[in-house]
Amino acid sequence: MKPDAKAPVASGTLGAEIALRIDELAALSDEPGRLTRLYLGPAHRRAIDLVSEWMRAAGMTVRLDATGTLIGRYEGAAPDAPALLIGSHIDTVRDAGRFDGNLGVITGIAVVGRLHASGRRPSFAVEVVAFGDEEGVRFPSTLGGSRALAGRFEPRLLDEVDAEGVSRRQALERFGCDPAEISAAVRAPASTLGYVEVHIEQGPVLEAEGLPMGVVTAINGASRGSVTVTGISGHAGTMPMQLRRDALAAAAEMIAAIERRGRQVADLVATVGRLEVAGAATNTIPGRVTFSLDIRHPADHQRTAAIRDIESSIKSIAAARGIEVEVTIDHDAPAAPADAGLSERLGRAVAHIGVPVRRLPSGAGHDAMAFGGAIPFAMLFVRCRDGISHNPAEYASPADIDLAARALADFVDRWDREAGQ
Ligand code: HGY
Ligand code: MN
Ligand code: MN
Repeated sequence: MKPDAKAPVASGTLGAEIALRIDELAALSDEPGRLTRLYLGPAHRRAIDLVSEWMRAAGMTVRLDATGTLIGRYEGAAPDAPALLIGSHIDTVRDAGRFDGNLGVITGIAVVGRLHASGRRPSFAVEVVAFGDEEGVRFPSTLGGSRALAGRFEPRLLDEVDAEGVSRRQALERFGCDPAEISAAVRAPASTLGYVEVHIEQGPVLEAEGLPMGVVTAINGASRGSVTVTGISGHAGTMPMQLRRDALAAAAEMIAAIERRGRQVADLVATVGRLEVAGAATNTIPGRVTFSLDIRHPADHQRTAAIRDIESSIKSIAAARGIEVEVTIDHDAPAAPADAGLSERLGRAVAHIGVPVRRLPSGAGHDAMAFGGAIPFAMLFVRCRDGISHNPAEYASPADIDLAARALADFVDRWDREAGQ
């Protein structure tokens, strides 16, 4: 049976409830007319308030950890039972789609809400986790919340500054968080059964195969960095071409070289998503340009080789043009395999609700890649229309969301039944 994404979903279903909340949460933005919700910003605070209400209505107690991660806990049959974590992130990129991240948190709350409504207490607790620093738009590095949960937060991140010069430490303190408490955010292994995330696929594979969802095998490794190109600014009308030290022309040659390298190896991606020209003016030869780097691959050695080659190309181009260049890698997250046992359980739940089990890698990064194996994870992808994401056109249908929520509910029920045997 290949469920149809366009099939209407009856009101009162999980899918309908989740779709409504997706739209409600999407209205909380730092920017008018589009969805932009940056870590520790005003919209993040409003989103935490709304999601906390939903968590409490689903029978959960709510707390905010020292990195601004919101955590709702639904107690199991025994107090202090170890918890199954269900989560995702509620921060977004600029002009974002409304499903990326938010879908996983709202789906987790909906599944717990069904337990609460029926008065059921599994043998384990369920905690819904809403991370706030997954996209890494505000600060150079990312995954601060999930690193902290795994006990892998690096204190140096507190000194990173955003575009306004506000450090992560200051932003946390202004948000009401105490950076000194970050080390206490770590999950004790004995208190954690594992982590499951439902996320829109953000790619075209499930749609191309007519499938509503799939089970993630691994998350590709990802490195982020920035390149600062320094030439000599000058008058666009008087400086002969052969005497110029044009930082933007040099950057353009470098960016073309980055794209060429990205095309050289299957499954490698190399992206320059951001470029700033200092003192940009039509009649001024650019003297200083900064651009971003985003390099990913399923195999870490391919990613590191690509970074090495790209740095070498950039430096050769700079030398040939008599230009200065500085390359910094701010963020490195190795490829992260999903936990085989959890993924097998998730696959059984998908099959049990009548959907073929398609396993696929994730080209996009996710919070679980920061766990470094400290917390076993599994992920469930939901079909993404046209594979479009990080774009307001991003869309997952209520029918597919309903199937994913039912699979997650079955995953929880099945685990509880097996624990009781
Ligand atoms: O960049 C990513 O892959 C994720 O959307 N943060
Ligand atoms: Mn995401
Ligand atoms: Mn994203």
